[in-house]
Amino acid sequence: MEPDILTRHHFKAKGWKRESWRDFPIQQQPDYTDKAVVKRVEKELSALPPLVTPNETRALMDELAMVAEGKAFLLQGGDCAESFAEFNHKNLQEYFQIMLQMTVSLMYGAGCPVVKVGRIAGQFAKPRSAGMETIDGVELPSYRGDMVNGMDFTPEARKADPERLLKVYYQSATTINYLNSLARGGHASLDQTSLWMTEFIRKSPQAKRFQHIIDGINDCLTFMAACRLPMDRIPELREASFYTSHEALLLNYESTLTRQDETTKEWYDCSAHMIWIGDRTRDPEGAHIEYCRGIANPIGVKVGPSMKKDALIKLCDTLNPDNIPGRLTLISRMGADKVEESLPPLVRLIKKEGRNVVWSCDPMHGNTIKSPSGIKTRKFNEILRELRGFFAVHHAEGTYAGGVHFEMTGQNVTECLGGAQAISELDLHDRYHTHCDPRLNASQSLELAFLISEELKKGKK
Ligand code: PEP
Ligand code: CO
Repeated sequence: MEPDILTRHHFKAKGWKRESWRDFPIQQQPDYTDKAVVKRVEKELSALPPLVTPNETRALMDELAMVAEGKAFLLQGGDCAESFAEFNHKNLQEYFQIMLQMTVSLMYGAGCPVVKVGRIAGQFAKPRSAGMETIDGVELPSYRGDMVNGMDFTPEARKADPERLLKVYYQSATTINYLNSLARGGHASLDQTSLWMTEFIRKSPQAKRFQHIIDGINDCLTFMAACRLPMDRIPELREASFYTSHEALLLNYESTLTRQDETTKEWYDCSAHMIWIGDRTRDPEGAHIEYCRGIANPIGVKVGPSMKKDALIKLCDTLNPDNIPGRLTLISRMGADKVEESLPPLVRLIKKEGRNVVWSCDPMHGNTIKSPSGIKTRKFNEILRELRGFFAVHHAEGTYAGGVHFEMTGQNVTECLGGAQAISELDLHDRYHTHCDPRLNASQSLELAFLISEELKKGKK
């Protein structure tokens, strides 16, 4: 048992039950035709083992508390939408490798611990701005992610199928299992950094700079060994802590995996360590907030340009009434044009009210555009501009820019424009594999990590 398990704060919300969210207005849910199948699937999920444990989730809460106090940096990232089709060994391994490369780049450059949280092992359901999609005069339900329906534009594929919830559960379980093996089984060890370079990164414009970091780390390890501090005596150098997160969109999935911790009697969403509420479902009076207020996990809330001051304070009151650091992460996603205007009043308010939060920046969702040929994309420079704006705001307000939230992949995709590889309009067609929004490829992700470590270094000075 963890030594402080009984003395630490316990999350208990008045009048909350595992299913109390069902009495509140709810947005963005699938339209299932066969309710009996939904009930059967929910029953089956309720009996299955949890995907993560409360002990691990508490460890993440502690790491996020360090971020809230300005002593660590949060790196959260992964697919916009995971899919059944793109699930394979290579994609998972290369995703993990780019997360590790970004991590050591940030640690080495900025000299602070990095909390690694994947947008993975449950990130399958998507909120949509329109419930229906029309192509050539044919209207069908929108694709809501593999957790709900299929991407093909046919009536069969677009029908919401509750059995998909079970497939998500099993794919998530396999994903977590493999990521844990990579994190703890030697691959994440700091003497293995050169093995994290995929062929793509090796040939990318970032290779030289990353090689420089590898050389620096290897020098440190040699020196430590000479001090009789060999790696096998320091587990922190041989293993990585890695946590999972996703948007808690389909509340029946989340609540079937919500279990009571036997020791503390707190309720945990055991589908992931951290969950977040999207910009479209964060109504303080809605079902998503009702569900989240009762669970003991770290919670993220997306903060877009329409967030009002009173709603933000209400969200803090409801989700974190005891003001526990690490519990609440505010994920700003204003867009490059709006960040410097819309974010400061909110940052000032949180500071004035003395709320303990992590401020993180999602520079993706406010910067999605259509290319002239109609492809959904994002410009690397706009992503960077929002990030810089986010850091500048915190610098000016004397607050801590605590983290980033990216849609990214370890693959050599061509989904976002620009970056050192100078991906162009014409390149977008080459390797555009995302099931929803355009992701940074491995080279663009590493490039951003280098730029962020420079911003963090500046902040320290
Ligand atoms: C997302 O993170 O996938 C997303 C849809 O973001 P937002 O809720 O901020 O639009
Ligand atoms: Co997205």
